[in-house]
Amino acid sequence: IIPAAQHVHALLASYPDFPQPGIVFRDLNPVFADAVAFRAIIDDLSERYRGQFDAVAGIEARGFLLAAGIGYAARCAVLAVRKGGKLPGTVLTEEYDLEYGSARLELEVGQLPAGSRVLIVDDVLATGGTVAATARLVERAGYLTVGVGVVLELAELDGRSRIGDVPVHTIVSV
Ligand code: PRP
Ligand code: HPA
Repeated sequence: IIPAAQHVHALLASYPDFPQPGIVFRDLNPVFADAVAFRAIIDDLSERYRGQFDAVAGIEARGFLLAAGIGYAARCAVLAVRKGGKLPGTVLTEEYDLEYGSARLELEVGQLPAGSRVLIVDDVLATGGTVAATARLVERAGYLTVGVGVVLELAELDGRSRIGDVPVHTIVSV
């Protein structure tokens, strides 16, 4: 077992019936709040795709924390994929379904050269709707999704099946 996975297993918190009955909410904030664990997950995700990406796209909100760290570690560009209605200028929009509800994600156009290789990162892969919508935004913006990196995968929801051919790396699967 890799060090990053040990940290995640040790620090991950689970909350039954949050934010609604029937959902077991996995909270990674205790992992981010541990300095050694945070470094380990940033290093793991950066190393897994080393040399393969020009930019890292973080998904609001907790993906931003990962993208900032990976962007710094890899000295690459950072994109913020935001929830609907928060970005100015010309934006691309994708609708997606959540484990609980539905939502919109947006990306500003023209931030990177065409064909830029993008690594998509987020804290949790659940149904995969969020990452799949982000991959559509990346493609519509004229870039290539070269990989997906997440800290925690909820395997029973089979999010991978919605992502297609792109490699998906998860530190821990539960
Ligand atoms: C959570 C999580 C992922 C997404 C995963 O974010 O951080 O982004 O759900 O779900 P999926 O694989 O089923 O699409 P949430 O939408 O709760 O937003 P937040 O980060 O702003 O709290
Ligand atoms: N934790 C965090 N984000 C999520 C979860 C979860 O259990 N399920 C869907 N998005």
